[in-house]
Amino acid sequence: MRVPKSVWIAAAVLVAGGAALFALRSPAEATGPVVEVVKSPTCGCCEMWVDHMRDAGFRVKVRDVDYATLTASRAGAGVPGDLSSCHTATVDGYTIEGHVPAADVRRLLAERPHIRGLSAPGMPGGSPGMESAPAERYDVVAFDASGRRSVWARH
Ligand code: CU
Ligand code: CU
Repeated sequence: MRVPKSVWIAAAVLVAGGAALFALRSPAEATGPVVEVVKSPTCGCCEMWVDHMRDAGFRVKVRDVDYATLTASRAGAGVPGDLSSCHTATVDGYTIEGHVPAADVRRLLAERPHIRGLSAPGMPGGSPGMESAPAERYDVVAFDASGRRSVWARH
């Protein structure tokens, strides 16, 4: 049986349309800013923060590293020792240390202040990725290269 050319064209358009839709919906094709994370391969709360950022539309690239590399990355990213947490990320030239909520990162990228980055020091219970621990109040701290700090957000 001969299939009319128009049917083939219609089928091709449908397939292409479906592929385009799939690409749009695939997380790998998300168009948000790229967040590069270094973390320990065994850290579950880090993984949950990564999911939180992906759910918020960020493209997240994860590098699992050993403890020494993690420590060196944190220092290289300019995180003061007492502001350290479990994982270190960079986005658009800024450092993001620990369980900082995606909304705080969004505001950072919108306002683009002259700082080095943001940290949620320690591992505050109830912060993104730390929901399994009892919720506590915590501050997200902005820090710059000269040691100046301010409270970016209270949670
Ligand atoms: Cu953590
Ligand atoms: Cu972590």
